[in-house]
Amino acid sequence: MRGPVSTQAVLFSLAFAVTIAAKDDPDYNPALNFRPDNVTLSNLYYWVGSYYNGTTDVELLPYAGLASTYRSLCPNLANTTITKQYETVLALTEPSTYNTGYDPVNAFLTLWPPGFNFSSLPYPTSSDETLELDSSLEFALFSSDPTYWVEGSVENNFNWTLNATQSPPYSLSSTLTEYDGQGGFSSNVTSCNGTDTVEWTFYPLPWNLNGTGYNLPDPVIDLEFDVKTANLSLEGYFIGYEVVKEGSKTGSSMVLAVGKLKLTFLGVLDAYHSDVLVNTTDTPTWLRTVGFQNNSLNVGYTSVASGSSVLGALAIGAWIFLMSAAFSFCA
Ligand SMILES: *[C@@H]1O[C@H](CO)[C@@H](O)[C@H](O)[C@H]1NC(C)=O
Ligand SMILES: *[C@@H]1O[C@H](CO)[C@@H](O)[C@H](O)[C@H]1NC(C)=O
Ligand SMILES: *[C@@H]1O[C@H](CO)[C@@H](O)[C@H](O)[C@H]1NC(C)=O
Ligand SMILES: *[C@@H]1O[C@H](CO)[C@@H](O)[C@H](O)[C@H]1NC(C)=O
Ligand SMILES: *[C@@H]1O[C@H](CO)[C@@H](O)[C@H](O)[C@H]1NC(C)=O
Ligand SMILES: *[C@@H]1O[C@H](CO)[C@@H](O)[C@H](O)[C@H]1NC(C)=O
Ligand SMILES: *[C@@H]1O[C@H](CO)[C@@H](O)[C@H](O)[C@H]1NC(C)=O
Ligand SMILES: *[C@@H]1O[C@H](CO)[C@@H](O)[C@H](O)[C@H]1NC(C)=O
Ligand SMILES: *[C@@H]1O[C@H](CO)[C@@H](O)[C@H](O)[C@H]1NC(C)=O
Ligand SMILES: *[C@@H]1O[C@H](CO)[C@@H](O)[C@H](O)[C@H]1NC(C)=O
Ligand SMILES: *[C@@H]1O[C@H](CO)[C@@H](O)[C@H](O)[C@H]1NC(C)=O
Ligand SMILES: *[C@@H]1O[C@H](CO)[C@@H](O)[C@H](O)[C@H]1NC(C)=O
Repeated sequence: MRGPVSTQAVLFSLAFAVTIAAKDDPDYNPALNFRPDNVTLSNLYYWVGSYYNGTTDVELLPYAGLASTYRSLCPNLANTTITKQYETVLALTEPSTYNTGYDPVNAFLTLWPPGFNFSSLPYPTSSDETLELDSSLEFALFSSDPTYWVEGSVENNFNWTLNATQSPPYSLSSTLTEYDGQGGFSSNVTSCNGTDTVEWTFYPLPWNLNGTGYNLPDPVIDLEFDVKTANLSLEGYFIGYEVVKEGSKTGSSMVLAVGKLKLTFLGVLDAYHSDVLVNTTDTPTWLRTVGFQNNSLNVGYTSVASGSSVLGALAIGAWIFLMSAAFSFCA
């Protein structure tokens, strides 16, 4: 009797070990907001949360509003409208133990060129493969810097205010007093003092212009999201420079233009890359599903039926192997 019992024990531990080795992420830490790495994800989809796809429209109005006082700076740009459009992903992710300050969500708004191939983004295996360092990223707003491993604490670039609610939609806002995002909006438009077309780069304003004598208000960001859509806007002022190319070097002219800026993102939920946003809580909360086989809409999901039939085949194979081994041993 002893032989078959111990063979069965070996069989079960073997079948168990095979499943673990194939799928489990031994480094997964549920106390952090990093997803298990047993699903194929890039540096854009690294965190537990909701992801929204859409487009961002940027409208720049040189010398409009309070900036009209400065229209003598670059008269050629006055009364023009500059528009840009970007492919966009908005990541609204769960804050983690490394975040400091009040932070109902970590929001990462990333603006990419039209037609950008999101599959080309790498899984971050080294510090130079992070989202922030991707050369295709044209502009981004990070409520705190994207973090891929825990090294001390991560400060907020701006703090959200969450409007009181019992459930989604959530409505958040902030004023960007110390943060101007990453990157800028580039456009070929008329030069400051001539008739030629030159490249300009425009930046949201929040750096302190008091020293230069310009005094324009900080940008205000608004965000609303629920289980289906997310809308984000940034309204304020910009500062712009002509791009100067000398040989292979790119710099900025001293010439600057100022004006009103409006950025608008409308996005729809990317369920493939999203965990489940709970619809009954007064602050954003997620049930983790990506990597856990409990949401058929997710990346990496394989149906339970096919998963268990694979396991079943393995078990039967192992059983036959072990039983024949056991019988040949007895014989
Ligand atoms: C992926 O890893 C996590 C954490 O170890 C585990 O809970 C989950 O079951 C794994 N996913 C699959 C498909 O096995
Ligand atoms: C822009 O419009 C303002 C007000 O309408 C006008 O005074 C100004 O001359 C215009 N500037 C240019 C460069 O057209
Ligand atoms: C965000 O809030 C924290 C905690 O109140 C504060 O220390 C920090 O200065 C704030 N950050 C900004 C950018 O306002
Ligand atoms: C997108 O990038 C992936 C990974 O680099 C590549 O395999 C695929 O062919 C690209 N798709 C297009 C349409 O270029
Ligand atoms: C948030 O609450 C404030 C104050 O009650 C209100 O003025 C504002 O419209 C609300 N924002 C949104 C987007 O609902
Ligand atoms: C501006 O024009 C130059 C020369 O044609 C081009 O290389 C550059 O990509 C353009 N910039 C933008 C933002 O379209
Ligand atoms: C315009 O300004 C640039 C940079 O200040 C200068 O190099 C250029 O000669 C000026 N062009 C005209 C037409 O004044
Ligand atoms: C900028 O100047 C205005 C008015 O001169 C002043 O109220 C404000 O505090 C200054 N801001 C900073 C950041 O110094
Ligand atoms: C976002 O904007 C769209 C279009 O205006 C609207 O249908 C949707 O309800 C908005 N979403 C939220 C969460 O407010
Ligand atoms: C959102 O974009 C990602 C990246 O291109 C893509 O994999 C996903 O299928 C898209 N989802 C929706 C709902 O558009
Ligand atoms: C809330 O979520 C549950 C579970 O995902 C779903 O059954 C229910 O219909 C949702 N309710 C609303 C109002 O969206
Ligand atoms: C899916 O499984 C994970 C891990 O067991 C769990 O934390 C999560 O709440 C589950 N999600 C749902 C929607 O039940």
